[in-house]
Amino acid sequence: TKPRILVARAVFPETIALLEQHFEVEHNQADEIWSRADLLARIRDKAGAFTTGGERIDAELLAAAPGLRICANMAVGYNNFDVPAMTQRGVLATNTPDVLTETTADFGFALLMATARRISESEHFLRAGKWNKWAYDMFAGSDIHGSTLGILGMGRIGRGIARRGAHGFGMNVIYHNRSRLAPDLEAACKARYVAKEEMLKTADHLVLVLPYSKESHHAIGAAELKQMKATATLVNIARGGIVDDGALAQALRDKTIAAAGIDVFEGEPKVHPDLLTVPNVVLTPHIASATVPTRMAMAKLAADNLVGFLVNGKPVTPINPEVLR
Ligand code: GLV
Ligand code: GLV
Repeated sequence: TKPRILVARAVFPETIALLEQHFEVEHNQADEIWSRADLLARIRDKAGAFTTGGERIDAELLAAAPGLRICANMAVGYNNFDVPAMTQRGVLATNTPDVLTETTADFGFALLMATARRISESEHFLRAGKWNKWAYDMFAGSDIHGSTLGILGMGRIGRGIARRGAHGFGMNVIYHNRSRLAPDLEAACKARYVAKEEMLKTADHLVLVLPYSKESHHAIGAAELKQMKATATLVNIARGGIVDDGALAQALRDKTIAAAGIDVFEGEPKVHPDLLTVPNVVLTPHIASATVPTRMAMAKLAADNLVGFLVNGKPVTPINPEVLR
């Protein structure tokens, strides 16, 4: 008999078809948002789960699913996984790195440009019928080319944004990261390592691309925003909770910084109500990896991890490979 798996949210029909070749699949193509109790009941008899960032995989869930052997997240970030608890139970965790790097870096750059050049704000103005004359300072924003780009978190996506800035727009790129990059990686994206405080003070544009953890919770709060230039732009494509959204709304209102572009929110899909009322912020609903080819590649990789592990004992992109030993 085929192993049983749970697919927690709707995905491409092709992904379900691929999984059904190997597994008995309980899917959710109606895309209901299950209650926690519902999720626990459905995962109880499963060997594997196809998850998204919305399902919390923790000790409570693992205790409710004694036969569970793998959770394959359709995301590169996995702060919805309690990895130590999974490892302790011998449950493999996988994510979807690499396949979304360039697409996500493209979006980071798009959000940066939309924010610095006030594209959303000006479109709202036009659609509202308020454009009745030219004005010397109408939606005057800040320059991208030749400016200083700061990147907090220098993984694959951060390096992709750095390359775009340095090679495409002649930006001076500085970065801060838990550890400094190897010299060849620094050279490839022409980025210079600086202390966090120096980056906050000197960046014209600051892009956040670091994983969420207890250590990165509110890495950008009121104190950090105060250190930034009044003309600066902040972009968050990393995770909600890395920015203190309430403090950000206040800083945008007070013009402590000029503008922000935010794709991820604390407690999303809820958005801090104050952010909805300030004009100088571009808000998008967590779509940085959302192109059709990339979402298909992410779904395929998550499915390949389930098949690779449960059928052949060889996952593609394990997070806690120590479980395999
Ligand atoms: C999206 O946020 C991801 O982690 O892939
Ligand atoms: C994500 O894959 C990153 O390394 O930035």
